[in-house]
Amino acid sequence: MDFELPRLSRREFLSKSSIGAGLVLGTPSILKAKAPGATGDDIRVGFIGCGKQHEVLFNAMVNIPGIRYVAACDIMKARVGRTFSAIKSRFDYNINRYLSAEEMLEKEDLDAVFVSTPDFWHAPHTVMALEAGCHVYCEKMMSNTIEGARSMVAAMDRTGKLCQIGHQRRSNPRYQFVLNELIQKENVCGQIINLNGQWNRALSSSQDIVSKPSILPEAEILREYGFNAGADHTLNLEELRHRFLNWRFYTDLSGGPISDLGAHQIDIFNWFLGTQPKSVMASGGRSYFKDREHFDNVMCIFEYETPLGSARAFYQVLTTTSSGGGYYETFMGTDGTIEMSEREAYTNIYKESGADSTKWDELVRRGLLKKESAGVAAGGTDAIASYESAPPDKYALPGGLSKQPHTPHVENFYGAIRGVTKLTCDARHALESEAPIYWVNPAANSHEIINFTEEHLHT
Ligand SMILES: NC(=O)c1ccc[n+]([C@@H]2O[C@H](COP(=O)([O-])OP(=O)(O)OC[C@H]3O[C@@H](n4cnc5c(N)ncnc54)[C@H](O)[C@@H]3O)[C@@H](O)[C@H]2O)c1
Repeated sequence: MDFELPRLSRREFLSKSSIGAGLVLGTPSILKAKAPGATGDDIRVGFIGCGKQHEVLFNAMVNIPGIRYVAACDIMKARVGRTFSAIKSRFDYNINRYLSAEEMLEKEDLDAVFVSTPDFWHAPHTVMALEAGCHVYCEKMMSNTIEGARSMVAAMDRTGKLCQIGHQRRSNPRYQFVLNELIQKENVCGQIINLNGQWNRALSSSQDIVSKPSILPEAEILREYGFNAGADHTLNLEELRHRFLNWRFYTDLSGGPISDLGAHQIDIFNWFLGTQPKSVMASGGRSYFKDREHFDNVMCIFEYETPLGSARAFYQVLTTTSSGGGYYETFMGTDGTIEMSEREAYTNIYKESGADSTKWDELVRRGLLKKESAGVAAGGTDAIASYESAPPDKYALPGGLSKQPHTPHVENFYGAIRGVTKLTCDARHALESEAPIYWVNPAANSHEIINFTEEHLHT
């Protein structure tokens, strides 16, 4: 069973799957293998895509009890081999290895599947796995197209299976604490009118990915698995391999930096505000990486109508500088500002000079905030006091909220499978939040504001 060529080409598969033609693959076949050594309560797990993010997810779950790893597939033999070895050395049993996800789903008896393939494969793989009777954890961005993402929601509804999307901040205790306790219960920010977020990466982190040719798939496999440019079958091996390794740069394989990086943070804007934006305006450029299909730098503004009034969110993703402190989301209110990041070091809270000190002191006394420092006015002979607001006091979150970023989200998925919790980011909620992101590149291309209608944002 290992590494046989798939019996269907990707095009054939797509035309048979519900994305292409509304057909259902059907229930798992009777060829399914039993997971050796699995106990009755174990959740039997398979992996589709064993690249970098798969490693992160695997490391985030290795200490969770009650999991039996059964099979993994990847079109790159070395990567599925690495997963095989990692499981063998840690748990001392063998998993089955496949090239084809379809074959793995047909032959194995799986309860849950993790999809961490390139974005253009998410919808086919997720729909296929849901229809094979598995619960699915699929990485963000849900798909490279909004139609693909919608097909995932439809498959989740049709099959009644769980479908968690990899916006891991939604299960992060720090993010949950800030939203539930500080923003919603204590209203520390006052009216949130401005949001600001960024993911700025240095040039050195934005270079082409290269790999030893000897471990890369051959042209036949890459064409079979959709790394040719649509109907273009003239690409040579080097071009195919570039698209395979650097799928994030190509418009038919990914949504580019605004979806790859921006998806995380724009999701937080929408989650925290509890609503979708009304419009987006955007500007993007191929300012440095002139040959890349996607913009290398994008800036955009979303407008919102919240119960407290209108709000605007500015977001930028830059691949040519790390300036401005990496990646974070900032919620700026009339009383205070919360700067959140998956990196704890970039997380800060500030009290506006005019905000009610008694209330903030009380939050410190109750252990909801720690006071770090009082605001210090800029010194020096160039300080122009009449132009400047008094500097804000700085606070920090209480301790005990930190976990490895992906572990709580994976735990939430397994907990939902066991029926002890609800998913924090199922496909429908994920798409409600992701839908506006699909319109940033079109807004930047057209230089026109897109005012969202039901047609743009529906799930
Ligand atoms: N949640 C996060 O913080 C986070 C971080 C990084 C990446 N991601 C997401 O994870 C996904 C994977 O990203 P990555 O960085 O690991 O990419 P990657 O290129 O390192 O890995 C993708 C893997 O999928 C395999 N693959 C490609 N097509 C396949 C197919 N049809 N069947 C089976 N295997 C196939 C490739 O051989 C490769 O091993 C992306 O959607 C990305 O957006 C999420």
